[in-house]
Amino acid sequence: MKKKVVVLTGAGVSAESGISTFRDSDGLWEHYRVEDVATYDAYLRNPQLVLDFYNQRRRELFKAEPNEAHRQLVRLEEKYDVHIVTQNIDNLHERAGSTQVLHLHGELTKGRSDKDDSLIVEIGNKEIHLGDKAPDGAQLRPHIVWFGEAVPNIEPAAELCERADYFIVIGTSMAVYPAAGLIHYVPQSTPCYLVDPKAVPISRPITIFQEKAGTGVKKVVDQLLALAQ
Ligand code: APR
Repeated sequence: MKKKVVVLTGAGVSAESGISTFRDSDGLWEHYRVEDVATYDAYLRNPQLVLDFYNQRRRELFKAEPNEAHRQLVRLEEKYDVHIVTQNIDNLHERAGSTQVLHLHGELTKGRSDKDDSLIVEIGNKEIHLGDKAPDGAQLRPHIVWFGEAVPNIEPAAELCERADYFIVIGTSMAVYPAAGLIHYVPQSTPCYLVDPKAVPISRPITIFQEKAGTGVKKVVDQLLALAQ
């Protein structure tokens, strides 16, 4: 049976595709206030502003292509059972060819009913506007986990982490919980790797590639593929 590699990705893995990160200089949270565009209260107060923020993210996504880091992670599937747990709402892992991707914070290409969280619809690159309806007649909202909302996929993600034979963290500031807490579920004996140009606070032994994902991910993937020979 193939060994399991669990990969936790954040905005940094998509940075070289031209998608903005959140907390770097010139990141999204320098231009917008979280409380204005990424909470349920913001959506109640000014839904159009929130919908427009995500419409813009969706437009940005459809101009972007997967980069070398996304592609390298696909190579790992030759020898490993690879699970990507991503905080990203883009679909670049899937478009690169990764087959097992779990989204913690939702997906830009989906919308859902304002009244029924389980009623999720594919919207592709379409914009959402006030008056657009979900199949139950309620307003359609982005299928995004906003700050303060529950993270339904955190439990399956934690279960994957508990069973990881190798764990890789790529391009996340590890500033947002519960995602940042997932590393605590990874067994102490599991080798861990980190790819990020900045120093990221992680309190366990970890092999660090302090560089961009476009070059660093290949190094980790080469190492793991060599181990599986
Ligand atoms: N390659 C790898 N890492 C990079 C690159 C790159 N080319 N460019 C930037 N980074 C790193 C930064 O150094 C930083 O550590 O990516 C990380 C981005 O951190 P954040 O902007 O905080 O993004 P992320 O950790 O994904 O944010 C988590 O916060 O607002 C929310 O919901 C949003 O899912 C997001 C969550």
